[in-house]
Amino acid sequence: MEGAGPGPGGRSGVVTAAARLAGSLRLPADKSVAHRALLFNAMGAGTATVRLDRPGGDVLSMARALQALGAVEDLAVGDVGVTVATVRGGGTAAAARLPGDGGETLDCGNAGTAMRLLAGALAGRPGTATLVGDASLSGRPMERIAAPLRAVGATIETTDGHAPLRITGRRPLLAMAHRPAVASAQVIGCLSLAALAAGGTTTIEVPGPTRDHTERMLSWLGAPVRRDGLVTIIEGPAGFAARSLTVPGDISSAAAWLVAGALHPDAEIRLVGVGLNPSRVGIIDVLRDMGADIEVTLDDGDGGDGPPDHPEPVGTITVRGGRPLRAIAISGDRVADVIDELPLIGVAMAAAEGRSELRDAAELRVKESDRIALVVADLAAVGAQVEERPDGWVVRRGQPREAAIHTDGDHRIAMAFAIAAVCGVAGTVRIDDPACAAVSYPSFWTDLETLSR
Ligand code: S3P
Repeated sequence: MEGAGPGPGGRSGVVTAAARLAGSLRLPADKSVAHRALLFNAMGAGTATVRLDRPGGDVLSMARALQALGAVEDLAVGDVGVTVATVRGGGTAAAARLPGDGGETLDCGNAGTAMRLLAGALAGRPGTATLVGDASLSGRPMERIAAPLRAVGATIETTDGHAPLRITGRRPLLAMAHRPAVASAQVIGCLSLAALAAGGTTTIEVPGPTRDHTERMLSWLGAPVRRDGLVTIIEGPAGFAARSLTVPGDISSAAAWLVAGALHPDAEIRLVGVGLNPSRVGIIDVLRDMGADIEVTLDDGDGGDGPPDHPEPVGTITVRGGRPLRAIAISGDRVADVIDELPLIGVAMAAAEGRSELRDAAELRVKESDRIALVVADLAAVGAQVEERPDGWVVRRGQPREAAIHTDGDHRIAMAFAIAAVCGVAGTVRIDDPACAAVSYPSFWTDLETLSR
């Protein structure tokens, strides 16, 4: 085999099949947990340190925005790539609040989670701040947070429903019952942070399941926040003390190797220190349903509540290849658990025997790119048989061929099609923008090289 193409680990964008995939990896810090660890501590009382293994560009966008507010005092990168952020909160034990008086412009880069969560936190801080992002983020829908933030008393100016967002916060905000039309953890996180500055009980009832990192971390910090089914309940006003933590590895990054290990005929990959929040592990269930051999061990072995010094369960995942995969149909509530893994799942579908289908995933069209259009176009380019649907796709195995992969700068598309090539689901691919992987997984290409034999 020729490794992962000219240039270390496919960094050049050219990726070929590996003869074998084997080894053990630690993943970069979980993006969803890292955003919250940094931002929530920035609203707490006192100082905490947040340890982040090789944080992606999105997490660094959040850290730099908090630096511009004066909350992140130090961002030190250690010799093994672990970044330690020292965060000084702007709040008190009774009232969570970001520091700063207004007048800031905060650049969220490519990070939708950073922009939407920051908007909620700024809604309860008097003063005006402006949130800006890159071209992709400036095209993503923001009215889903702007409208409810206006309803609780903040002033939010959008640009036709998009970023830049100009936010003038106030205290107290109103407590109310929100019923967002989309089941979005970003919307829940945004409105929960605003609710900490409100007087009374706020409820947020979403139409389907979502990841629950906001509720877990706020209650771990001591704020009166809980989840009851599809409803998040916050008693405001509330505050908490800042609290140090190490962010676990990102299961959405681990997903690249779970799919690679499951698809490759000769693979054994061990992933250690991975966050195993039950609302994020859908990729393991999907691959097991397709026939993959995956073993999971929780670090504390306690069945899922996580060690008491951490809001999230953590463990080790081992995947072994060589099994035939069968087709799968994914729809309804199952979509939320794998929302960021769907490009990789599209690739797995193209390796399976039979007709696979994805439905109820229209939200994919407003992620970092239109992921339905891109996955369908790129799967067709690598030889799979694929049909586009308004809310998903239908995929059958085809004849793998060489292809140029268009990513639209979307990290998950770049990584999914690198995996397709490494496993032989595609022929050699040329990925147009390999560097875009760094927003969530800066060491993706070197990790690919480490595992490829
Ligand atoms: C995230 C929630 C998801 C996910 C995103 C991160 C979060 O978005 O796609 O990558 O950290 O809350 P939605 O909640 O908008 O679906």
